[in-house]
Amino acid sequence: MKTHELTEYRHCEQALKLPGLKQSLYDEGAILMDRVLVTLHGEPHRERRLTEMRVFRRDFFRRYEREVIPEVFASVMQSSPSKEVDLVTLGYHFMVHLALAFAGIDRQDQGQSETEDLVRILRMFGVAATLGQAKDRDLEAANLEVRATLTEFDERFFTPSAQRRQALLGQVAAGELAEEALPMDVLTVLLQDEDKLQLVRDMVLRETAFYFLASAHTSVHSLSHAMHHLFTWCAGNPDGRADLVANPAKVQRFVHESFRLHPSSPVSKRQAVEDLVLPNGQHVAVGDTVIINLRQANRDAALFGAEPEMFNPQRDIERGVSETGITFGIGMHACLGKNLAAGALPVPGKAFDMDRHQLGTVAWIAHALLEAGITPNPMQAPELDQAIARETWLNYPALRS
Ligand code: HEM
Repeated sequence: MKTHELTEYRHCEQALKLPGLKQSLYDEGAILMDRVLVTLHGEPHRERRLTEMRVFRRDFFRRYEREVIPEVFASVMQSSPSKEVDLVTLGYHFMVHLALAFAGIDRQDQGQSETEDLVRILRMFGVAATLGQAKDRDLEAANLEVRATLTEFDERFFTPSAQRRQALLGQVAAGELAEEALPMDVLTVLLQDEDKLQLVRDMVLRETAFYFLASAHTSVHSLSHAMHHLFTWCAGNPDGRADLVANPAKVQRFVHESFRLHPSSPVSKRQAVEDLVLPNGQHVAVGDTVIINLRQANRDAALFGAEPEMFNPQRDIERGVSETGITFGIGMHACLGKNLAAGALPVPGKAFDMDRHQLGTVAWIAHALLEAGITPNPMQAPELDQAIARETWLNYPALRS
């Protein structure tokens, strides 16, 4: 079996659309990732994606940004009053709340210790999904830890959340509750379509855990990368912070440039399920692995201009190419949460109304952190995580004003 690698943007883009290539980035993390949406292929993937897309509605995103995120931001900032903060930990606390609401997992109490437990669970699910990219990790020991965490998630959070939703679905079936009164989350739609999708309990459990992870983990790391670029910019531009605080849409453009430079996984990995020819002309046999290098594709000078490895939110990008590159994937597995995480940039030439505009979770929080006066801690340099072949900040010490 051979391994092939694609690095040019157009080749990567086309390869992600080839039905003969099946997801294989998460093979080592099967304990959590087996038959969840991002690892399914073909018709079962299409059917499940259609069901889950019901949650990703524009009005849902708007409510999130107008009501849910501001509330979560205020409560997390209030519960961490210390002057010294770690942006990665803060990021986990912001995103854990948002991810729970999205996945359909109810808090059982509102206590701080439960929040810490949920952050711990989320971090362990992150370990599971990235086992294939871990350096020097004992796979067997990690699998045992993930299994124990999944059992804890099941007993403490998933079971009561599923029971509450089953009861509500029963009331809808009996005509006692209007369908619109159901919670709008992934767990509810999965329980609604359980028979159609031939789901068994373990699959619903893993899918819900996957959503809890997918909607939080990537955003946490994207937030710390974006803050790093925003801080660096402010340090080199005396009026930079005031200008960014006054222009949330500008912060959003900065965040999108950061998305381009730092895809959550530097590569996508696929396995061929049939013999095929890659967009660069290489012949691939069944069982071969294809690495699609998202990080390098997003630094393709032909599309992103000179010095593509540099942070430059003013860069000219080839018409029709997303300013975030292929950080959110493309094709059958294209990220369902892109709008939620990244919003949509103002369209040049079209009237812009900030009250109706969607910034996306990451830019909303980045802007709020700048506005709150958060600065890097000059006494403690941030550290990158060396234990994994992904570019993520292990910690990012900062100060509150
Ligand atoms: C900065 C934030 C995010 C980044 C960079 C990101 C990136 C990605 C990428 C690259 C993929 C495709 C994986 C592949 O082709 O192998 C993907 C898929 C996915 N993402 Fe995201 N994502 C983010 C946020 C979110 C959020 C907030 C949600 C949910 C609310 C979400 C839900 C999903 C789902 C469900 C899939 C699988 C889609 C499928 O297989 O059909 N993501 N994401």
